[in-house]
Amino acid sequence: MDRDFRIGQIDPRLYGSFIEHLGRAVYGGIYEPGHPTADEMGFRRDVLEIVRELGVPIVRYPGGNFVSGYDWRDGVGPKEERPRRLDIAWMTLETNEVGTNEFVEWAKRAGAEVNLAVNLGTGDIDTARSLVEYCNHPGGSLYSDLRIAHGYREPHKIRTWCLGNEMDGRWQIGHKTADEYGRLACQTAIAMKWVDPSIELVACGSSHSRMPSFAQWEATVLDHTYEYVDYISLHTYYNNRADDLGTFLAESLDMDEFIRAVVATCDHIRAKKRAKKKLHLSFDEWNVWYHSFPESQRIQKEEPWQVGPPLYEESYTLEDALVVGCMLITLLKHADRVTIACLAQLVNAIAPISTVTGGPAWKHTTYYPYLHASRYGRGASLDLQVSSPEYPNKKYDSVPLLDAVATLDEEREQLTIFAVNRSQEGPLPLEGDLRSVEGYQVVEHIVLEHEDHKARNTPERPDEVMPHSRGDASLRHGRLSASLPRLSWNVIRMARAAE
Ligand code: AHR
Repeated sequence: MDRDFRIGQIDPRLYGSFIEHLGRAVYGGIYEPGHPTADEMGFRRDVLEIVRELGVPIVRYPGGNFVSGYDWRDGVGPKEERPRRLDIAWMTLETNEVGTNEFVEWAKRAGAEVNLAVNLGTGDIDTARSLVEYCNHPGGSLYSDLRIAHGYREPHKIRTWCLGNEMDGRWQIGHKTADEYGRLACQTAIAMKWVDPSIELVACGSSHSRMPSFAQWEATVLDHTYEYVDYISLHTYYNNRADDLGTFLAESLDMDEFIRAVVATCDHIRAKKRAKKKLHLSFDEWNVWYHSFPESQRIQKEEPWQVGPPLYEESYTLEDALVVGCMLITLLKHADRVTIACLAQLVNAIAPISTVTGGPAWKHTTYYPYLHASRYGRGASLDLQVSSPEYPNKKYDSVPLLDAVATLDEEREQLTIFAVNRSQEGPLPLEGDLRSVEGYQVVEHIVLEHEDHKARNTPERPDEVMPHSRGDASLRHGRLSASLPRLSWNVIRMARAAE
């Protein structure tokens, strides 16, 4: 490791998350009036506390697929006047009890900023620009005065906005071709920035890299929008449906390839347009997702048109947490271009946090790598020169047993190494040359491991898979050594020793 091998400064928004009007994410997740911990707005304080502990800097809202049929005007104003709507994205009933203002208030209580998505499925330029006016304009105009009349004198000052969601997908309400979407996104972006030139905009990239139209979609969309947007989005979810752990653990190699391909496409369009601006990437949906996914159905086997049914509630294992750890390492390895990322999602639906209705909230295995990265992965990310034994794999030829990245926070004089041992056989000895950072010592070596890699946390046993600080890392004369247990997530925390 060398302190000068810098990939880039880590934008805190790399540790963002996502809450959609999906299943029990909002209703029964963050919002449950009548719950013993509910505050005066109906938000669960126990959930807020866990979210604050995670230090989530930004939360994408309100979708996802949901946003493509959502009219934001349904969710503002007196609650008793808000319509109940059929949400055809998830076949549920939307009561609109929680809308933009409530969510902004929840995010404030969670210590996060909001990344607001506009509807470009059934929505248009007008609904998008009026939402910017409603949220960000100080007052004296139709929509800003409406916000004030609704009890919010101060503008919400929402900085980051998504121009729709997964518009390349046939499942998306109002699905479009790349040209149709690109043109609409461009005109919408212009109008939104005319209302508030300080906002940042995310154009929709492909829903995942296996889409037949990937990366032509990105190229076409950016041809239309490059000058007017700041980010292009990426989404991906991995699974171990084939029960092939070696391949599952290596899926971050696919994520790495995906990021490189999108960066290349952005830079190609930049060259074509002779543009100065470098586009950034917003990996605004990423996670492991499959335990709750029905093989052949669009929607889970829940009765349609319920309010907040339990949809896509994952129960994550240790191996899922290792994949999430590798995905976080991959994001950090691209911190120069990926400046926003959102773990999808945050509560109940595809989430690291679950709630029992009327009961407690609890943390899944995947909560821990996310917590550690958000807490300790600050400053600059460093490009480690890693040499590691590899294992053969059908999908990826050969896969390094060690996946690792380092972050150096010079202000707080903290150095952290995040490392996953993918070995199913046994521990991996780690040797590191850290002579370029003087005066640091190991503060803590956190390990997440379990003898059973299918182990998971449940409401009955919420602490079954928990990190411990009994790792054996030591740093002497610039030499780091540690033993990384079989199938483990490791956080080696170092700090400059007091003189
Ligand atoms: O996060 C769940 C869904 O996955 C989102 O609504 C959609 O954008 C993606 O396909």
